[in-house]
Amino acid sequence: MNLRIKKNFVTKMLLGLSTIAFLSGCVNDQSDKTYDDAVDIPTNQEMVAELTSPPFVPTPVGKRMAKKLIVDLEIQEREGEMVGGVKYVYWTFGGTVPGSFIRTRVGDELEFHLKNHPDNKLPHNIDLHAVNGPGGGAESSFVAPGHEKVFSFKVLNPGLYVYHCATAPVGMHIANGMYGLILVEPEGGLEPVDREYYVMQGEFYTEGGYGDRGMQAFDMQKAINENPDYVVFNGHVGALTGDNAMTAKVGETVRLFVGNGGPSLISSFHVIGEIFDKVHVEGGDLLNHNVQTTLIPASGSAIVEFKVDTPGSFILVDHSMFRAFNKGALAMLNVEGEENKKVFTGEIHDGIYLPEGSVIQSMPSLDRKKAKEEVKALSFEEKMKFGKDKYMATCVACHQGNGQGIAGAFPPLAKSDYLNADVDRAIDIVLHGKTGEITVNGEKYNSVMTAQALSDEEVSNVLTYVYNSWGNSKKEVTPQMVEAVRNR
Ligand code: CU
Repeated sequence: MNLRIKKNFVTKMLLGLSTIAFLSGCVNDQSDKTYDDAVDIPTNQEMVAELTSPPFVPTPVGKRMAKKLIVDLEIQEREGEMVGGVKYVYWTFGGTVPGSFIRTRVGDELEFHLKNHPDNKLPHNIDLHAVNGPGGGAESSFVAPGHEKVFSFKVLNPGLYVYHCATAPVGMHIANGMYGLILVEPEGGLEPVDREYYVMQGEFYTEGGYGDRGMQAFDMQKAINENPDYVVFNGHVGALTGDNAMTAKVGETVRLFVGNGGPSLISSFHVIGEIFDKVHVEGGDLLNHNVQTTLIPASGSAIVEFKVDTPGSFILVDHSMFRAFNKGALAMLNVEGEENKKVFTGEIHDGIYLPEGSVIQSMPSLDRKKAKEEVKALSFEEKMKFGKDKYMATCVACHQGNGQGIAGAFPPLAKSDYLNADVDRAIDIVLHGKTGEITVNGEKYNSVMTAQALSDEEVSNVLTYVYNSWGNSKKEVTPQMVEAVRNR
């Protein structure tokens, strides 16, 4: 070995040793916490747990001592709306999907009262991933309609845990909405933040396709094939958009408790326009920083935290994009406050760039037979209702629930001079799409709208809704008018 090689070798050895020392330091920080001693934390008082409906969470535990915590949770089978005009019978913990949020701390003794409402049709139970014990409580909590089961457990491990029904067929009970989150805070509580919200993804399998009206039954074969019609946050399409959007102010730190009920899909959870400053990976102790998209397994969770630096609408998605824009996996956080040009300037220049071959893409028609079986609107009121449903399913992501559009990106439909000037042009844009610069209410827009694969009936409904909303000119569009534009 010549001297030079020897020197390199020694340097590498030293570097290697220091790396090992550094790594073991890190590992010690994160993996030595076993919480074995939590079993001996005394509880000498009793309190009833505060339970909340999503997207809200109970008060942080802070510095409170461990207690006997009574959790009262009622199972309800109830009808709800998946998206406009689509009904579904949800099975719920506490009347909502996801179920009520439970907040506890290490050392608490949980006395769990699970009630199955007498109007329900089926037995259910609960498996809490925060339990150290057989079935996570499932066997002890199996309860028939009109009955109540009580079991208790000591809370040993901190973290954000999923709970779900585990009654056979388990996949079906979960697919009908039977899941929620239980947060176990460490001794002393989580660090305080300005806002906390509860968001949980889940997918639904219906006999009809996306948006097919009426009562939709669960489809076992689609569930086995893992091919859902809906992938949503908080139980239905639009649960957290428009008036239901979450809110924050510039400069605040937002903490999202995010779960994935599944039953089958993994979520690529992302917030458009934000970076997670901190992620509690899989809801446990491991902290990651500066994360764009975090994976949330079926029946797993993550706690994500970020400071909002600029005002605007921030869109939560499963970044498997067709789930977000075609199956409903989209939620919204609206941030108000002063702009900060140091962080984000907005648009500085808008030039024209039209390479060869740029064409408008059309939305593929998913189901041709749908047009034949279509339910036709029989009155103006029905046209408005069907039109609104179609709008909320198809147009809302860009043009927004109140027709305001998104400044600098998508033009407004509310009090729109461009829209009100020419009905045939509006029909043509819905049928064939639109690209290139247009001026709406004095502002220039240069975005792309794709052609929409809608029937004449659907186009007439949605445009009638748009023309009769938000201060527009109150025109009624008929299927015949749409057909005339289609055929010209
Ligand atoms: Cu169940």
